[in-house]
Amino acid sequence: MSAPPLIEVRNLRIYFPIRKGFLGPVQYVKAVDGVNLRLYDGSVLTLLGESGCGKTTLGKTIAGLYRPTAGEVLFRGKNIWRLSSSEFMIYRRSVQIVHQDPYAALNPTKTVFTILATPLKRWGIARTRSELVERVSKLLELVGLTPPEDFLYKYPHQLSGGQRQRVVIARAISVNPKLIVADEPITMIDVSLRLGILDLMLELREKMGTAYLFITHDFGAARYFSAKGGGRIAVMYLGKIVEIGPAEEIIKNPMHPYTQTLISAVPVPDPEISRKKKPIQLRSLDIPSPVNPPKGCRFHDRCPFYIEGLCDKEEPPLTEVKPLHEVACWRVIKR
Ligand SMILES: Nc1ncnc2c1ncn2[C@@H]1O[C@H](COP(=O)(O)OP(=O)(O)O)[C@@H](O)[C@H]1O
Ligand SMILES: [Mg+2]
Repeated sequence: MSAPPLIEVRNLRIYFPIRKGFLGPVQYVKAVDGVNLRLYDGSVLTLLGESGCGKTTLGKTIAGLYRPTAGEVLFRGKNIWRLSSSEFMIYRRSVQIVHQDPYAALNPTKTVFTILATPLKRWGIARTRSELVERVSKLLELVGLTPPEDFLYKYPHQLSGGQRQRVVIARAISVNPKLIVADEPITMIDVSLRLGILDLMLELREKMGTAYLFITHDFGAARYFSAKGGGRIAVMYLGKIVEIGPAEEIIKNPMHPYTQTLISAVPVPDPEISRKKKPIQLRSLDIPSPVNPPKGCRFHDRCPFYIEGLCDKEEPPLTEVKPLHEVACWRVIKR
């Protein structure tokens, strides 16, 4: 039997209760609504989808920050919410999250040294002052903040957004995690500094073999990251994965109409893809509410190819249509 994946997500649902008005009925935002995923050691999975489709919720749940409404998250085959406290500590250390906002992620009253020394002390990786300075300097070098002496005793407000995100990444890798959940790590960073951060993450993966769940709403970023990092792309729509497969395959041969929409909205430098690419006219530009997602296929009321009586009635299952390429679309499955 092969070893269990690093992380496995099974039939995961995360519902947030909300109330309309002060005394209104409680409703549920179905942020994640039946997701299955496997993340393997050293692998890259890019999670792509429009804002509000549930990417952050899924990422936070994988990092153990939300408890599932239903379904489970397994770490090396074990449900993370049923681990012993020592196993939970190992899991916590193994999965680190880099949030979207590097301004909110760092305590403004602490120096870079203190910020990076804290997890090292907590996990017993370094203890004495000189060990800590040495380790923290090494981390700063790894994330391109050199010479380290220029950064050790700076406060977050003295750094640019890109530099702050480098500190956040240094903190994530400081404990040698197995997985980094990088939630839109470049969205709030100056455009000119974005590729540098993506390159840094890819370089660290080469050096350390860390697996990534790279979350983005931007197809251009997904393409850049996977062109260099390989791996798989999963496309999410209204709480569900609608297409998943090897990155190159998804970019060259997207099969779900929603994936095709995302891709056709972005200029493609590769003429081979541009030629094949036909713009897709959505029937509606509005994203439906995750409180009452459409029946059948959740994309049917925007989809130009929907089949009446099928797509609006029955939900298409995520189905392998080519090796490792899975799509949840009746048109594709029924071919
Ligand atoms: N704590 C929360 N309480 C209520 N609704 C939430 C909460 N967090 C997220 N949501 C809702 O869940 C849906 C998915 O959000 P999110 O996971 O942040 O999506 P994404 O990261 O793809 O933009 C959205 O409709 C959002 O408004
Ligand atoms: Mg988000």
